[in-house]
Amino acid sequence: MPDASILGLPLANPVIVGSGLLTDQERNIRRLVERGAGAVVTKTIHPNPPQGLDERIIRLPVGMLNSTTYSKRSVNHWLDVLRSFADDRLPVIASLHADSPAELAALAKDVETTGCQALELGISCLNEEEGLEDDNPDRVYAYTSETRGRTTLPLSVKLAVGEGLQDRVRAAIAGGADAITLSDTIGGAAVDPATGRLELNGVFGYSGPGLKPLVLAAVWQLRRRGVELPIMGCGGVSSGRDVADYLSVGANVAQVYTALHTDMYETLERIVAETRDLTGSSAGAPLPAETPQEAAI
Ligand SMILES: Cc1cc2nc3c(=O)[nH]c(=O)nc-3n(C[C@H](O)[C@H](O)[C@H](O)COP(=O)(O)O)c2cc1C
Repeated sequence: MPDASILGLPLANPVIVGSGLLTDQERNIRRLVERGAGAVVTKTIHPNPPQGLDERIIRLPVGMLNSTTYSKRSVNHWLDVLRSFADDRLPVIASLHADSPAELAALAKDVETTGCQALELGISCLNEEEGLEDDNPDRVYAYTSETRGRTTLPLSVKLAVGEGLQDRVRAAIAGGADAITLSDTIGGAAVDPATGRLELNGVFGYSGPGLKPLVLAAVWQLRRRGVELPIMGCGGVSSGRDVADYLSVGANVAQVYTALHTDMYETLERIVAETRDLTGSSAGAPLPAETPQEAAI
């Protein structure tokens, strides 16, 4: 498979492992790269992650709910780990967030000193206590522009599909983003049949196959409206077909996360192999007009 690239990183293939619990450990990240990931995004690193929350995952018949927030590992731990990844030239993207734009910018500056080559701003997690109700273009602009002002590293701004997406994308572009990651989880809920109450006691991040049509539509609409920035499509990828679909609507690469909670390495290898078979020599470009898979739709 020829090279794809994103954020200046040359990629062996367009399948990137997204940020989450599975990427909170150095060992997992190294193995995911060994097993074929084009790149891996770390769990979101945060100088002051919320403490004492009930952070859990629940598998649904389709997809997953999770109430996790940010890595509980210290920034210093992550700086050491990122340094060792850089020494070994591993394609790892550091996911970062902080309590204020100034703190995020300072964190980005520290991460730059490790030799890490690319950042993703994980600013759209809805699992904090306030539930990200204040998400809006001004907030996106503030985090993006302040970080852009302190680091020259290429950065992707991670957003969630939903209300006001176009304006949030424009705010990220105006703030100096080099790419957009779409999508983070969206608000979901499930009822515990035993109690009739909400699982996890509230609305938390939904991920998995149900997200894919929503994100495909959003990426397609962004392209149609003239957004040219590279896009990392993310949501519900569990096969090479899903990756190819993201590339077809205009994403440059695709991220996979929830699917990897089942047989992590084998699932990744399968998705990478299927992607190679389907996209052949055209990673990042539309599929040929007629492929055997079209007959199956
Ligand atoms: C358990 C879990 C933890 C996650 N943690 C993070 C995180 O720390 N930072 C982040 O940007 N996204 C996080 N995500 C979101 C994923 O990176 C991804 O955007 C989302 O799950 C949609 O992709 P998927 O359907 O392939 O899982 C998490 C998702 C799950 C399920």
